[in-house]
Amino acid sequence: MHPYQLILKKRDGGELSPEEIEALLGAYLREEIADYQMSAFLMAVFFRGMSPRETAALTMAMVRSGETLDLEALGGVPVDKHSTGGVGDKTSLVLIPLVAAAGARVAKLSGRGLGHTGGTIDKLESIPGFRTDLSRERMLDQVRRIGCALAGQTADLVPADKRLYALRDVTATVESIPLIAASIMSKKIAGGARGIVLDVKTGSGAFMKTLEDARDLAEAMVAIGHEVGRRTVAVISDMDQPLGRTVGNAVEVEEAIATLQGRGPQDLTELCVALGSHMLVLAGSEASRDAAEERLRRALEDGLALERLRKMIAAQGGDVRVVDDPGLLPQARHVLPVAAARGGVVAGIDAEAIGLAAMSLGAGRARKEDRIDPAVGIRLERKVGEKVGAGEPLASVLAHDEARGAEAVRRVREAYRLARSAPTPRPLIHAVLGDAA
Ligand code: URA
Repeated sequence: MHPYQLILKKRDGGELSPEEIEALLGAYLREEIADYQMSAFLMAVFFRGMSPRETAALTMAMVRSGETLDLEALGGVPVDKHSTGGVGDKTSLVLIPLVAAAGARVAKLSGRGLGHTGGTIDKLESIPGFRTDLSRERMLDQVRRIGCALAGQTADLVPADKRLYALRDVTATVESIPLIAASIMSKKIAGGARGIVLDVKTGSGAFMKTLEDARDLAEAMVAIGHEVGRRTVAVISDMDQPLGRTVGNAVEVEEAIATLQGRGPQDLTELCVALGSHMLVLAGSEASRDAAEERLRRALEDGLALERLRKMIAAQGGDVRVVDDPGLLPQARHVLPVAAARGGVVAGIDAEAIGLAAMSLGAGRARKEDRIDPAVGIRLERKVGEKVGAGEPLASVLAHDEARGAEAVRRVREAYRLARSAPTPRPLIHAVLGDAA
Protein backbone atom coordinates (compact mmCIF):
# COMPACT_ATOMS: atom_id res chain seq x y z
CA MET A 1 0.00 0.00 0.00
CA HIS A 2 1.21 3.51 -0.75
CA PRO A 3 2.30 5.50 2.35
CA TYR A 4 -0.23 8.17 1.39
CA GLN A 5 -3.07 5.68 1.95
CA LEU A 6 -1.70 4.58 5.34
CA ILE A 7 -1.39 8.19 6.49
CA LEU A 8 -4.94 8.84 5.26
CA LYS A 9 -6.27 5.76 7.05
CA LYS A 10 -4.72 6.84 10.36
CA ARG A 11 -5.73 10.48 9.84
CA ASP A 12 -9.35 9.35 9.48
CA GLY A 13 -9.23 7.21 12.63
CA GLY A 14 -8.78 3.78 11.05
CA GLU A 15 -6.83 0.89 12.52
CA LEU A 16 -3.71 -0.24 10.65
CA SER A 17 -2.87 -3.93 10.47
CA PRO A 18 0.46 -5.17 11.91
CA GLU A 19 1.62 -5.78 8.31
CA GLU A 20 0.82 -2.19 7.33
CA ILE A 21 2.72 -0.81 10.32
CA GLU A 22 5.71 -3.07 9.62
CA ALA A 23 5.68 -2.02 5.94
CA LEU A 24 5.49 1.69 6.78
CA LEU A 25 8.32 1.61 9.33
CA GLY A 26 10.47 -0.67 7.17
CA ALA A 27 10.10 1.65 4.17
CA TYR A 28 10.95 4.65 6.34
CA LEU A 29 14.11 3.00 7.69
CA ARG A 30 15.18 2.07 4.14
CA GLU A 31 14.64 5.74 3.27
CA GLU A 32 11.93 4.93 0.73
CA ILE A 33 9.56 7.26 2.61
CA ALA A 34 10.44 10.89 3.23
CA ASP A 35 10.62 12.50 6.67
CA TYR A 36 7.61 14.69 5.77
CA GLN A 37 5.41 11.63 5.24
CA MET A 38 6.54 9.95 8.45
CA SER A 39 5.99 13.26 10.27
CA ALA A 40 2.44 13.41 8.94
CA PHE A 41 1.85 9.83 10.10
CA LEU A 42 3.21 10.64 13.59
CA MET A 43 0.94 13.68 13.81
CA ALA A 44 -2.04 11.53 12.78
CA VAL A 45 -1.11 9.10 15.60
CA PHE A 46 -0.78 12.03 17.98
CA PHE A 47 -4.40 13.04 17.31
CA ARG A 48 -6.02 9.65 16.65
CA GLY A 49 -4.03 7.43 19.02
CA MET A 50 -3.38 3.74 18.39
CA SER A 51 -5.16 0.57 19.44
CA PRO A 52 -3.23 -1.87 21.71
CA ARG A 53 -2.76 -4.13 18.66
CA GLU A 54 -1.30 -1.27 16.60
CA THR A 55 0.96 -0.12 19.46
CA ALA A 56 2.26 -3.65 19.97
CA ALA A 57 2.88 -4.02 16.22
CA LEU A 58 4.79 -0.72 16.14
CA THR A 59 6.83 -1.84 19.17
CA MET A 60 7.83 -5.16 17.59
CA ALA A 61 8.60 -3.53 14.22
CA MET A 62 10.91 -1.16 16.13
CA VAL A 63 12.54 -4.10 17.98
CA ARG A 64 13.24 -5.80 14.63
CA SER A 65 15.00 -2.68 13.31
CA GLY A 66 18.22 -3.58 15.15
CA GLU A 67 20.17 -6.04 17.26
CA THR A 68 18.62 -7.73 20.29
CA LEU A 69 20.18 -9.16 23.42
CA ASP A 70 19.54 -12.85 23.98
CA LEU A 71 19.50 -13.51 27.71
CA GLU A 72 17.96 -17.01 27.51
CA ALA A 73 21.39 -18.62 27.90
CA LEU A 74 21.65 -17.11 31.39
CA GLY A 75 18.87 -19.41 32.60
CA GLY A 76 15.82 -18.32 34.60
CA VAL A 77 13.52 -15.49 33.58
CA PRO A 78 15.52 -12.36 32.71
CA VAL A 79 13.93 -9.29 34.31
CA ASP A 80 14.43 -5.60 33.71
CA LYS A 81 13.07 -2.32 35.04
CA HIS A 82 12.53 1.06 33.51
CA SER A 83 11.83 4.44 35.05
CA THR A 84 10.08 7.12 33.02
CA GLY A 85 12.52 9.56 34.60
CA GLY A 86 12.59 11.92 37.50
CA VAL A 87 14.69 14.16 39.72
CA GLY A 88 17.02 12.45 42.20
CA ASP A 89 15.97 9.09 40.78
CA LYS A 90 18.95 6.87 41.64
CA THR A 91 16.71 3.80 41.95
CA SER A 92 18.62 1.64 39.42
CA LEU A 93 21.92 2.17 41.26
CA VAL A 94 20.38 0.56 44.34
CA LEU A 95 17.95 -1.85 42.73
CA ILE A 96 20.20 -3.72 40.31
CA PRO A 97 22.78 -4.94 42.89
CA LEU A 98 19.96 -5.43 45.41
CA VAL A 99 17.86 -7.80 43.29
CA ALA A 100 21.02 -9.60 42.08
CA ALA A 101 21.96 -10.19 45.74
CA ALA A 102 18.45 -11.58 46.26
CA GLY A 103 18.75 -14.12 43.45
CA ALA A 104 17.65 -12.49 40.16
CA ARG A 105 19.87 -11.96 37.12
CA VAL A 106 19.78 -8.51 35.57
CA ALA A 107 21.46 -7.18 32.44
CA LYS A 108 20.29 -3.60 32.42
CA LEU A 109 20.77 -1.13 29.60
CA SER A 110 20.31 2.49 30.69
CA GLY A 111 20.32 5.93 29.15
CA ARG A 112 21.84 9.31 29.82
CA GLY A 113 20.04 12.29 31.32
CA LEU A 114 18.39 15.00 29.26
CA GLY A 115 16.69 18.17 30.48
CA HIS A 116 15.64 18.28 34.13
CA THR A 117 15.86 14.50 34.65
CA GLY A 118 19.10 12.62 35.33
CA GLY A 119 20.38 9.42 33.73
CA THR A 120 21.82 6.30 35.39
CA ILE A 121 24.79 6.09 33.02
CA ASP A 122 25.94 9.64 33.84
CA LYS A 123 25.65 8.90 37.55
CA LEU A 124 27.68 5.68 37.31
CA GLU A 125 30.38 7.42 35.30
CA SER A 126 31.09 9.69 38.28
CA ILE A 127 32.79 6.63 39.85
CA PRO A 128 36.43 6.96 38.72
CA GLY A 129 37.25 4.37 36.04
CA PHE A 130 33.70 2.93 35.80
CA ARG A 131 33.00 1.72 32.25
CA THR A 132 29.51 1.67 30.81
CA ASP A 133 30.44 0.78 27.19
CA LEU A 134 30.30 -2.99 27.63
CA SER A 135 30.17 -5.31 24.63
CA ARG A 136 27.32 -7.83 24.52
CA GLU A 137 29.69 -10.71 25.34
CA ARG A 138 31.29 -8.91 28.25
CA MET A 139 27.91 -7.94 29.65
CA LEU A 140 26.55 -11.49 29.50
CA ASP A 141 29.75 -12.90 30.98
CA GLN A 142 29.53 -10.44 33.87
CA VAL A 143 25.88 -11.33 34.57
CA ARG A 144 26.83 -15.02 34.51
CA ARG A 145 29.62 -14.39 37.05
CA ILE A 146 28.10 -11.84 39.46
CA GLY A 147 24.39 -11.69 38.58
CA CYS A 148 24.21 -8.11 37.28
CA ALA A 149 25.56 -5.52 34.86
CA LEU A 150 24.55 -1.93 34.12
CA ALA A 151 25.64 -0.56 30.75
CA GLY A 152 24.79 2.11 28.19
CA GLN A 153 22.48 1.44 25.26
CA THR A 154 24.41 0.73 22.08
CA ALA A 155 23.55 2.45 18.79
CA ASP A 156 22.45 -0.84 17.20
CA LEU A 157 19.67 -1.40 19.76
CA VAL A 158 16.36 -0.16 18.29
CA PRO A 159 17.83 2.26 15.70
CA ALA A 160 14.22 2.98 14.64
CA ASP A 161 13.64 4.67 18.01
CA LYS A 162 16.49 7.10 17.43
CA ARG A 163 15.16 8.00 13.97
CA LEU A 164 11.56 8.36 15.14
CA TYR A 165 12.44 10.25 18.33
CA ALA A 166 14.54 12.79 16.39
CA LEU A 167 11.54 13.37 14.12
CA ARG A 168 9.06 13.59 17.02
CA ASP A 169 11.33 16.06 18.79
CA VAL A 170 11.05 18.59 15.94
CA THR A 171 7.41 17.96 14.97
CA ALA A 172 5.74 18.40 18.41
CA THR A 173 4.78 14.72 18.56
CA VAL A 174 6.83 13.56 21.58
CA GLU A 175 3.87 13.71 23.97
CA SER A 176 1.85 10.89 22.41
CA ILE A 177 1.09 7.98 24.77
CA PRO A 178 1.31 5.17 22.15
CA LEU A 179 4.54 6.60 20.70
CA ILE A 180 6.14 6.95 24.16
CA ALA A 181 4.94 3.48 25.18
CA ALA A 182 6.30 1.86 21.99
CA SER A 183 9.60 3.72 22.36
CA ILE A 184 10.14 2.53 25.95
CA MET A 185 8.88 -1.03 25.50
CA SER A 186 10.84 -1.63 22.28
CA LYS A 187 14.09 -0.94 24.18
CA LYS A 188 13.16 -3.24 27.06
CA ILE A 189 12.14 -6.07 24.71
CA ALA A 190 15.25 -5.66 22.53
CA GLY A 191 17.28 -5.80 25.77
CA GLY A 192 16.07 -9.38 26.23
CA ALA A 193 13.69 -8.97 29.18
CA ARG A 194 10.91 -11.55 29.67
CA GLY A 195 9.65 -9.82 32.84
CA ILE A 196 9.42 -6.02 32.90
CA VAL A 197 8.83 -3.72 35.89
CA LEU A 198 7.95 -0.15 34.90
CA ASP A 199 8.34 2.71 37.36
CA VAL A 200 5.98 5.33 35.93
CA LYS A 201 6.56 8.63 37.71
CA THR A 202 3.89 11.24 38.32
CA GLY A 203 4.07 14.75 39.78
CA SER A 204 5.95 18.02 39.29
CA GLY A 205 9.28 16.36 38.39
CA ALA A 206 7.85 13.72 36.09
CA PHE A 207 7.25 13.56 32.37
CA MET A 208 3.62 12.71 33.21
CA LYS A 209 2.53 15.48 35.58
CA THR A 210 -0.95 14.14 36.34
CA LEU A 211 -2.00 10.77 37.73
CA GLU A 212 -4.39 10.33 34.78
CA ASP A 213 -1.61 10.71 32.21
CA ALA A 214 0.70 8.40 34.20
CA ARG A 215 -2.07 5.81 34.35
CA ASP A 216 -2.71 6.06 30.59
CA LEU A 217 0.99 5.52 29.86
CA ALA A 218 1.23 2.66 32.38
CA GLU A 219 -1.83 0.96 30.84
CA ALA A 220 -0.46 1.36 27.31
CA MET A 221 2.88 -0.22 28.28
CA VAL A 222 1.29 -3.09 30.20
CA ALA A 223 -0.98 -3.75 27.20
CA ILE A 224 2.05 -3.94 24.88
CA GLY A 225 3.79 -6.32 27.29
CA HIS A 226 0.75 -8.59 27.34
CA GLU A 227 0.23 -8.46 23.56
CA VAL A 228 3.80 -9.68 23.01
CA GLY A 229 3.96 -12.23 25.83
CA ARG A 230 6.06 -10.36 28.41
CA ARG A 231 4.99 -10.38 32.06
CA THR A 232 4.72 -6.70 32.90
CA VAL A 233 4.04 -4.69 36.06
CA ALA A 234 3.70 -0.91 36.17
CA VAL A 235 4.18 0.89 39.50
CA ILE A 236 2.98 4.49 39.45
CA SER A 237 5.24 6.27 41.93
CA ASP A 238 5.39 9.80 43.24
CA MET A 239 7.73 12.38 41.73
CA ASP A 240 6.13 15.53 43.13
CA GLN A 241 9.32 16.20 45.11
CA PRO A 242 12.79 14.79 44.33
CA LEU A 243 13.41 11.19 45.38
CA GLY A 244 15.79 10.89 48.35
CA ARG A 245 17.86 13.87 49.42
CA THR A 246 20.36 14.35 46.62
CA VAL A 247 20.18 15.54 43.01
CA GLY A 248 23.23 15.35 40.76
CA ASN A 249 25.66 12.57 39.86
CA ALA A 250 28.41 11.82 42.43
CA VAL A 251 26.06 12.89 45.26
CA GLU A 252 23.45 10.44 44.03
CA VAL A 253 26.00 7.61 43.88
CA GLU A 254 26.93 8.45 47.49
CA GLU A 255 23.27 8.27 48.52
CA ALA A 256 22.79 4.97 46.66
CA ILE A 257 25.76 3.49 48.54
CA ALA A 258 24.29 4.68 51.87
CA THR A 259 20.98 3.06 50.89
CA LEU A 260 22.71 -0.26 50.16
CA GLN A 261 24.32 0.08 53.60
CA GLY A 262 20.80 0.21 55.06
CA ARG A 263 20.96 3.91 55.99
CA GLY A 264 19.31 5.49 52.97
CA PRO A 265 16.32 7.84 52.90
CA GLN A 266 13.02 6.13 53.55
CA ASP A 267 11.31 6.98 50.24
CA LEU A 268 14.19 5.64 48.15
CA THR A 269 14.56 2.50 50.26
CA GLU A 270 10.84 1.72 50.19
CA LEU A 271 10.55 2.31 46.44
CA CYS A 272 13.53 0.02 45.76
CA VAL A 273 12.07 -2.71 47.96
CA ALA A 274 8.67 -2.40 46.24
CA LEU A 275 10.08 -2.44 42.67
CA GLY A 276 12.58 -5.16 43.60
CA SER A 277 9.87 -7.40 45.04
CA HIS A 278 7.95 -7.26 41.75
CA MET A 279 11.18 -8.08 39.88
CA LEU A 280 11.90 -11.11 42.09
CA VAL A 281 8.37 -12.44 41.62
CA LEU A 282 8.50 -11.98 37.81
CA ALA A 283 11.94 -13.65 37.77
CA GLY A 284 10.47 -16.61 39.64
CA SER A 285 13.02 -16.16 42.47
CA GLU A 286 10.21 -15.75 45.03
CA ALA A 287 6.61 -16.95 45.01
CA SER A 288 5.08 -13.97 46.81
CA ARG A 289 5.74 -10.28 47.18
CA ASP A 290 5.89 -10.59 50.98
CA ALA A 291 8.63 -13.22 50.78
CA ALA A 292 10.44 -11.12 48.17
CA GLU A 293 10.31 -7.99 50.34
CA GLU A 294 11.67 -9.89 53.30
CA ARG A 295 14.55 -11.25 51.24
CA LEU A 296 15.39 -7.78 49.91
CA ARG A 297 15.37 -6.21 53.39
CA ARG A 298 17.67 -9.00 54.60
CA ALA A 299 20.06 -8.35 51.69
CA LEU A 300 20.20 -4.69 52.75
CA GLU A 301 20.78 -5.53 56.42
CA ASP A 302 23.38 -8.26 56.06
CA GLY A 303 25.54 -6.39 53.53
CA LEU A 304 24.96 -8.79 50.60
CA ALA A 305 23.50 -6.03 48.42
CA LEU A 306 26.43 -3.71 49.14
CA GLU A 307 28.83 -6.54 48.36
CA ARG A 308 27.12 -6.99 45.00
CA LEU A 309 27.63 -3.30 44.20
CA ARG A 310 31.33 -3.68 45.06
CA LYS A 311 31.56 -6.61 42.64
CA MET A 312 29.76 -4.70 39.90
CA ILE A 313 32.04 -1.66 40.28
CA ALA A 314 35.15 -3.90 40.21
CA ALA A 315 33.90 -5.87 37.18
CA GLN A 316 33.29 -2.63 35.26
CA GLY A 317 36.71 -1.16 36.03
CA GLY A 318 35.62 1.35 38.69
CA ASP A 319 37.43 2.37 41.87
CA VAL A 320 35.84 0.13 44.52
CA ARG A 321 37.27 2.25 47.32
CA VAL A 322 34.43 4.79 46.80
CA VAL A 323 32.09 2.38 48.60
CA ASP A 324 33.93 2.88 51.90
CA ASP A 325 35.23 6.35 51.20
CA PRO A 326 32.72 8.43 49.14
CA GLY A 327 35.18 11.34 49.53
CA LEU A 328 37.00 9.74 46.57
CA LEU A 329 34.06 10.66 44.32
CA PRO A 330 34.36 14.03 42.49
CA GLN A 331 33.79 16.89 44.95
CA ALA A 332 32.51 20.40 44.22
CA ARG A 333 34.62 23.41 45.24
CA HIS A 334 31.79 25.32 46.97
CA VAL A 335 28.98 24.22 49.29
CA LEU A 336 26.45 27.07 49.42
CA PRO A 337 23.60 26.97 51.96
CA VAL A 338 20.05 27.81 50.85
CA ALA A 339 18.66 29.43 54.00
CA ALA A 340 14.92 29.67 54.65
CA ALA A 341 13.75 33.31 54.54
CA ARG A 342 11.19 32.49 57.26
CA GLY A 343 10.24 29.58 59.47
CA GLY A 344 7.51 27.02 58.72
CA VAL A 345 6.85 23.54 57.40
CA VAL A 346 7.86 22.49 53.87
CA ALA A 347 4.57 22.19 51.99
CA GLY A 348 6.04 21.40 48.55
CA ILE A 349 9.27 21.22 46.54
CA ASP A 350 8.91 21.80 42.80
CA ALA A 351 10.93 18.82 41.56
CA GLU A 352 11.23 20.09 38.01
CA ALA A 353 12.61 23.44 39.26
CA ILE A 354 15.17 21.56 41.40
CA GLY A 355 16.14 19.44 38.38
CA LEU A 356 16.58 22.57 36.26
CA ALA A 357 18.66 24.23 39.01
CA ALA A 358 20.93 21.14 39.10
CA MET A 359 21.15 21.23 35.31
CA SER A 360 22.16 24.92 35.39
CA LEU A 361 25.06 23.96 37.70
CA GLY A 362 26.27 21.44 35.11
CA ALA A 363 24.77 18.25 36.60
CA GLY A 364 22.57 17.70 33.52
CA ARG A 365 22.37 18.50 29.84
CA ALA A 366 20.20 21.01 28.02
CA ARG A 367 21.38 19.49 24.71
CA LYS A 368 22.60 15.95 23.95
CA GLU A 369 26.17 17.11 23.28
CA ASP A 370 26.60 19.00 26.60
CA ARG A 371 29.20 17.67 29.06
CA ILE A 372 28.23 16.69 32.60
CA ASP A 373 30.07 17.93 35.69
CA PRO A 374 29.86 14.91 38.04
CA ALA A 375 30.68 16.84 41.23
CA VAL A 376 27.94 19.49 41.26
CA GLY A 377 24.41 19.08 42.51
CA ILE A 378 21.98 19.77 45.32
CA ARG A 379 21.46 18.25 48.77
CA LEU A 380 17.96 18.63 50.18
CA GLU A 381 18.31 19.31 53.91
CA ARG A 382 14.51 19.51 54.28
CA LYS A 383 11.80 17.52 52.53
CA VAL A 384 8.03 17.89 52.40
CA GLY A 385 6.45 17.81 55.86
CA GLU A 386 9.67 18.80 57.68
CA LYS A 387 10.01 21.93 59.84
CA VAL A 388 12.52 24.68 59.22
CA GLY A 389 13.38 27.77 61.30
CA ALA A 390 14.12 31.19 59.75
CA GLY A 391 17.73 31.20 58.51
CA GLU A 392 18.07 27.41 58.76
CA PRO A 393 19.12 25.49 55.63
CA LEU A 394 16.49 24.17 53.24
CA ALA A 395 19.17 22.75 50.96
CA SER A 396 22.85 23.01 50.00
CA VAL A 397 24.09 23.80 46.51
CA LEU A 398 27.30 22.05 45.43
CA ALA A 399 28.98 24.22 42.80
CA HIS A 400 32.29 24.74 41.06
CA ASP A 401 31.51 28.25 39.93
CA GLU A 402 30.35 30.79 42.51
CA ALA A 403 28.16 32.83 40.16
CA ARG A 404 26.31 29.73 38.86
CA GLY A 405 26.09 28.54 42.46
CA ALA A 406 24.47 31.81 43.61
CA GLU A 407 21.92 31.58 40.77
CA ALA A 408 21.14 27.97 41.76
CA VAL A 409 20.67 29.03 45.41
CA ARG A 410 18.02 31.53 44.23
CA ARG A 411 16.27 28.92 42.09
CA VAL A 412 16.29 26.27 44.84
CA ARG A 413 14.84 28.74 47.38
CA GLU A 414 12.03 29.54 44.94
CA ALA A 415 11.33 25.83 44.43
CA TYR A 416 10.46 25.43 48.13
CA ARG A 417 6.94 26.28 49.31
CA LEU A 418 6.58 26.86 53.06
CA ALA A 419 3.35 26.80 55.06
CA ARG A 420 2.29 27.01 58.70
CA SER A 421 1.24 23.37 58.95
CA ALA A 422 2.20 20.11 57.27
CA PRO A 423 0.35 19.21 54.02
CA THR A 424 -1.54 15.92 53.57
CA PRO A 425 1.23 13.51 52.54
CA ARG A 426 1.12 12.11 49.00
CA PRO A 427 1.50 8.34 48.73
CA LEU A 428 4.90 7.07 47.55
CA ILE A 429 3.09 4.53 45.35
CA HIS A 430 -0.16 5.68 43.74
CA ALA A 431 -1.13 2.48 41.93
CA VAL A 432 0.16 -0.85 40.62
CA LEU A 433 -1.07 -2.27 37.29
CA GLY A 434 -0.45 -5.46 35.36
CA ASP A 435 0.94 -8.79 36.61
CA ALA A 436 1.27 -7.81 40.26
CA ALA A 437 1.35 -10.80 42.63
N1 URA B 1 11.38 8.10 26.97
C1 URA B 1 11.61 7.26 25.92
O1 URA B 1 12.43 6.37 26.00
N2 URA B 1 10.90 7.48 24.79
C2 URA B 1 9.99 8.47 24.65
O2 URA B 1 9.38 8.57 23.62
C3 URA B 1 9.77 9.33 25.75
C4 URA B 1 10.48 9.12 26.90
